[in-house]
Amino acid sequence: MATTTLLERHEPVAPRDLEAEIRRLKSDLNAVILAHFYQDSEIQDLADFIGDSLQLSQRAARADADVIVFAGVHFMAETAKILNPTRQVLLPDLKAGCSLADSCPPHLFKPFREQYADHLVINYINCSAEIKAMSDIICTSSNAEKIINQIPPEQPIIFGPDRNLGNYLMKKTGRSLRLWQGTCIVHETFSEQKLLRLKFRHPQAKVLAHPECEERVLRNADYIGSTTGLLNYVKQSSDREFIIATEPGIIHQMEKACPEKVFIPAPSEGSCACNQCPHMRLNTLEKLYLCMKNRAPEIVMDEDLRLRALRPIQRMLEMS
Ligand code: 13P
Ligand code: SF4
Repeated sequence: MATTTLLERHEPVAPRDLEAEIRRLKSDLNAVILAHFYQDSEIQDLADFIGDSLQLSQRAARADADVIVFAGVHFMAETAKILNPTRQVLLPDLKAGCSLADSCPPHLFKPFREQYADHLVINYINCSAEIKAMSDIICTSSNAEKIINQIPPEQPIIFGPDRNLGNYLMKKTGRSLRLWQGTCIVHETFSEQKLLRLKFRHPQAKVLAHPECEERVLRNADYIGSTTGLLNYVKQSSDREFIIATEPGIIHQMEKACPEKVFIPAPSEGSCACNQCPHMRLNTLEKLYLCMKNRAPEIVMDEDLRLRALRPIQRMLEMS
């Protein structure tokens, strides 16, 4: 289980000084800053490495800095600690969770798994260490299809916690998967009606979607992939306009890589900014600075749980 230490009281630091302070602390602590594509752009710009969940876990596993500052959500920082336990792993806001991870509580998943004891358990990396410890293999959106294709066809599989990714994988692999019914609050917010209207207004635009989106959105996509998959698609494409059906934080890297292209966030139901991940956005530049200054909040794990959660992650890395 992760624990937190109360942030020390601090004098406010002017925004322009925060970046300089973070850079100074990075060198003082011998720290590396890893950031997910859904973080605010100013955090992405300070990071040593930006990536999707698979790339971030691979990068965390081989980090030789004393401190890993994880600008992402809790399960990502926890995975870094599982893979590289001798490093101190800091998360700017310990409350930065994930609705998918929350939708799969261990006390409910345990009897589900026991009910289908002959099934192999493949869980998406967006889950807690307790759920990882109950899994045979972990996967991310960039390697799930590859991993499932390596499992003998007669072997039944439980897939969790994301039912949208699970349904997408059933189509891609032709396999029947027993699905846990979890969803991501961000990716289920996109409106098909509004997307169709947007496509009508931008007939040249390609629709790119993350596989956590619902089928009604995925069926309108020209390309479906992980955050890195979407970024690579826009870099390689000769098209100039794209509608992006995932958390819009990724658009920062798309605009940096392809300043001449146009990126339009896919619209949500209602008039809210519900396509922004409220968990990812809990991390701010100020909290990044404070967590480095205070060396807290820190991810701390029970060693027995860490070892049980490590095994299926290692299997993922071997099969990726
Ligand atoms: P990626 O692995 O594609 O970056 O996905 C992470 C995530 O949380 C998507 O919601
Ligand atoms: Fe979790 Fe969804 Fe946020 Fe990704 S976008 S971290 S799946 S809540």
